[in-house]
Amino acid sequence: MATQDELKQAVARAARDYVADRLPVGGILGVGTGSTANFFIDELAAIKDRIGGTVASSEATAKRLAGHGIRVLDLNDVDVMGIYVDGADEIDHGLALVKGGGGALTREKIVAAVADVFVCICDASKRVQTMGRFPLPVEVIPMARAYVGRELAKLGGQPKLREGMVTDNGNLILDVHGLAITDPAGLEDRINQIVGVVTNGLFARRGADVLLLATADGVQTHAR
Ligand code: 5RP
Repeated sequence: MATQDELKQAVARAARDYVADRLPVGGILGVGTGSTANFFIDELAAIKDRIGGTVASSEATAKRLAGHGIRVLDLNDVDVMGIYVDGADEIDHGLALVKGGGGALTREKIVAAVADVFVCICDASKRVQTMGRFPLPVEVIPMARAYVGRELAKLGGQPKLREGMVTDNGNLILDVHGLAITDPAGLEDRINQIVGVVTNGLFARRGADVLLLATADGVQTHAR
């Protein structure tokens, strides 16, 4: 039986091959954040000469990419990004996601918005019928923390401040427990309308285009 790390490694290799096959030589690649993304970054080193540059979704990812000698660009200097590769905390069968377990949801959402193709990489434990078991991360401007918490409670969730966490943007994370996310796009919009919310970890309006899913029987490819 493969361990979860072995599954993450397998899907990281599959994503490396996907990029090698589909990203034009010299193209720009977006790179996500988290342990699965870290395995992917380590695999990417083998094909770094084919890539024109990368855009990182967090400071941690930028550091890891640079450590492999992979060029990291400012998103403002990038017009076209062929592919974005990132993990997820949950993914449903419509390829909507919950992200932000690592606290990088806002930059991840920005990079995903720019990319032509969003490739989600995860192991089979992340695939669910209905999202919400994983607490939904919401990035909040610090002075709005209590107000946003009260508004999230009105939506039926139990927000909890992520202790000790300050995002790369200098903000806080509220993790919202107890939501059954039956309308991911509607809830994404609703939460983003609360004043003081930077963004939330639902990626439904811009979900994944392709899912590479590591299972005990190999890596499956699912497309929207
Ligand atoms: C970070 C994220 C990650 O993609 C998500 O938390 C999955 O992480 P991991 O690959 O470590 O399970 O959204 O903000």
